[in-house]
Amino acid sequence: MDISKITNNYTQQGSSSSSSNNSSNNNNNNNNNNSSNNNTNFSGTHLTPNANIHTNQILRVPSGEQMASQSRNFNPVAGQSSLSRTPLPGNLILVTKTVFQGHPTVQSPAIQQPVNITYPKTEVVGHGSFGVVFVTTIQETQEKVAIKKVLQDKRFKNRELEIMQKIQHINIVDLRYYYYEEDPQSDSLYLNLILEFMSQSLYQRIRHYVHLQTTMPHDEVQIYMYQLFKGLNYIHGTLGICHRDIKPQNILINPENFQLKICDFGSAKRLNPMEPNVSYICSRYYRAPELIFGSTNYTTKIDVWSSACVMCELILGQPIFPGESGIDQLVEIIKILGTPNKQDICSMNPNYMEHKFPHIKPIPLIKIFKREKDYLCIELISNMLKYDPFERFSALQCLCSSYFDKIRMNYNNEIVTNLKLLDFNNDTDFDYLSQDEKLIVKQKLLPHLYSSINPSG
Ligand SMILES: Nc1ncnc2c1ncn2[C@@H]1O[C@H](COP(=O)(O)OP(=O)(O)OP(=O)(O)O)[C@@H](O)[C@H]1O
Ligand SMILES: [Mg+2]
Repeated sequence: MDISKITNNYTQQGSSSSSSNNSSNNNNNNNNNNSSNNNTNFSGTHLTPNANIHTNQILRVPSGEQMASQSRNFNPVAGQSSLSRTPLPGNLILVTKTVFQGHPTVQSPAIQQPVNITYPKTEVVGHGSFGVVFVTTIQETQEKVAIKKVLQDKRFKNRELEIMQKIQHINIVDLRYYYYEEDPQSDSLYLNLILEFMSQSLYQRIRHYVHLQTTMPHDEVQIYMYQLFKGLNYIHGTLGICHRDIKPQNILINPENFQLKICDFGSAKRLNPMEPNVSYICSRYYRAPELIFGSTNYTTKIDVWSSACVMCELILGQPIFPGESGIDQLVEIIKILGTPNKQDICSMNPNYMEHKFPHIKPIPLIKIFKREKDYLCIELISNMLKYDPFERFSALQCLCSSYFDKIRMNYNNEIVTNLKLLDFNNDTDFDYLSQDEKLIVKQKLLPHLYSSINPSG
């Protein structure tokens, strides 16, 4: 595949490019041409300022090695853009990539200097619906990373990349670097997101306890949920971003220190109240009822519903609403929460107001969580599992729930300190609140700093 061809394609699509943008594009073309003459000195290329896509040069892989990589079920493209290939003990191959920093520098986001990193080629560890994930260690920093490789539609910007570049939070998997590479054979473009590595997903942790024929200890549930809400408050509040696929597989943890980070922003979107959004998102068991009702003007509260389902699953060891189909999902919800009333249905989707639903009585949550002794825990779940999105708690309200007072009262505890549970950033965590709201929230969340009132009082 001729890289200049792609560059031209992109340039044509970038109709709104300013002249300065075009000139940077030309510069990049030059880079590209230079690099094609010099295999060892390629730097990543801005294909277009609009699409903001950079690609590594593709070098031909010796056919024997290509076959070896295919026989290991490795994506055939991987490794082809390597600049140096140094055999390591144990048949590991070191590859060097020209990559871009995950977060553009604040001073000059437009001018991003690519850097070279080297890492051993490794096996695929995760298969998602959109790509493959493999784990390796960057040789220069000795940092373990996960590389998520997704097929990139050349006509569009990658929303996952755009969002990952924007967000930086202790409870969200950090984008360290990214690069594009092409597969000359299939004429496909791939985006590689180089992410900080986390050892397990919450799904694996749940399975671990199921295997031990027990359920997750109460304190562990609490610490994970608190961090999940911290991450959600950050993306929802100031940034207006909805994750849209919260589920145990997309929540990563370190079971040794209980650190939690949200991953997989492949479905995430900044919701604009004036624009409709597709309702066919989110994995079925965790799908908020307004999505099942086909709402296209939903809010970030859909993530809170999904989080409630995750919390229930941590406590029960199995999904609370295991629907077998889209509509059966609603049946599972109604079996526990009862039939939604008129007001609920109107809030979820007014188009369904005329529909008649059989009247089913709700089952008290206390009966579902028979072994749960903490009433505040059940109270929080019931505030999250509200049909009406307006009544449903926000991530911030969840954080402020008295269920988490135990964390606040133990502000000197090692886990609380190490995980920075009580560290908040005024600008990024509370920016969207009024001054008065900020004070109230801080008094609740940081009683040891802001209030002499006993938090449990
Ligand atoms: N930073 C990471 N550290 C460790 N493992 C990761 C990391 N990112 C992803 N994974 C693993 O790879 C899996 C797939 O990643 P991800 O969810 O981002 O891809 P996806 O294709 O969008 O998935 P899906 O659509 O199936 O949810 C995750 O469930 C997780 O097990
Ligand atoms: Mg996923």
